Amino acid sequence: MSSGIRFDGVSVAYGDTTVLDALTLTVETGEVMALLGPSGSGKTTALRTVAGFVRPSAGRVYIGDRDVTDLPPYKRGIGMVVQQYALFPHLRVDENVAFGLRARKHPKAEIPARVAEALEMTGMGAYARRHPRELSGGQQQRVAIARALAIRPDVLLLDEPLSALDAQLRSGMLAELARLHRELPDVSILYVTHDQVEALTLADRIAVMDRARLQDCGTPQELYRRPRTEFTASFVGNANLLPVRVGADGVDFAGTALKVPAGDAAPGAAATLCVRPHLVGLGDGPNALRGRIAEVQWRGATHRLYVDVGGHRVKADVRELRDTPPLGQEITLHFAPEDAVLLAAGVNDG
Ligand SMILES: Nc1ncnc2c1ncn2[C@@H]1O[C@H](COP(=O)(O)OP(=O)(O)OP(=O)(O)O)[C@@H](O)[C@H]1O
Ligand SMILES: [Mg+2]
Repeated sequence: MSSGIRFDGVSVAYGDTTVLDALTLTVETGEVMALLGPSGSGKTTALRTVAGFVRPSAGRVYIGDRDVTDLPPYKRGIGMVVQQYALFPHLRVDENVAFGLRARKHPKAEIPARVAEALEMTGMGAYARRHPRELSGGQQQRVAIARALAIRPDVLLLDEPLSALDAQLRSGMLAELARLHRELPDVSILYVTHDQVEALTLADRIAVMDRARLQDCGTPQELYRRPRTEFTASFVGNANLLPVRVGADGVDFAGTALKVPAGDAAPGAAATLCVRPHLVGLGDGPNALRGRIAEVQWRGATHRLYVDVGGHRVKADVRELRDTPPLGQEITLHFAPEDAVLLAAGVNDG
């Protein structure tokens, strides 16, 4: 059975403002797709067009083979979890979880077993008779997930489900969600977040949104290793984005010739070189850059060095330093040609 999600040219406008611009994107059956992007980029809007709470001004939304664009939310087979849990405070946990089944007129006799199953899956079986106010934030979020799962949805929509939790709980819940996904291999999941760690950890693919548009889409590895735009490079992982000029055989950066894999940029053109800070090494090597240390941050496992190279800052995350080096010290950095990605300038402006 196919239960993927397909956006086909979906636009949403409020007055004259387009907040979602012709989104075309497919989430395969059983896939976790993260929608990643800054605040206001249109992530929640996209998710709400799938849920049926926002009507597109153009385009169609499909779940499996069904065009659901004109269907009311409760007929779409969707479970949804939002940031603030939105549990009913006056209902017990089991009543909250039963809510969607009751609303859909599910046979009464089957409801208790369905509720128990959903609470078991989220580890909340022992809390069925409590009220939401008697639960911690993390427990409330589990109940919200149980409530979404109780209807056995084809599609699970998660909108920043962990953002109200502290860092440690968040990482525990991330592992829980990954386990749930393994137990429900046919459920397609759309996961909205602006946290790249969540997206990298959980998603099979990441759709990167910026200013109402889809900028990039790929597996976490693809986007990290081969970003197509500066925006993706800086939003998925940390990046040095160095202004360079393309030569016949490599690029020029601040007067230094560098060897890099060829990109789309033509010789003579201005371009941007993306190099991940942890792939910049200390000392001499291929693509050596000389500069002075402008700033140092000790981060426990690594030192983050900010090095002035011909007036540009180059970031290097290095493990091999025992002591923090003094500011102003001259230093040589290098990176392997294959660790650099050449991005044509302006590809992000369109
Ligand atoms: N009902 C509405 N009326 C008018 N504008 C709206 C409405 N809902 C959302 N918007 C606007 O649409 C844009 C996209 O909003 P959306 O909630 O999709 O962003 P988001 O990517 O989810 O951001 P965040 O990370 O802050 O949740 C924003 O500029 C927002 O102000
Ligand atoms: Mg949002």
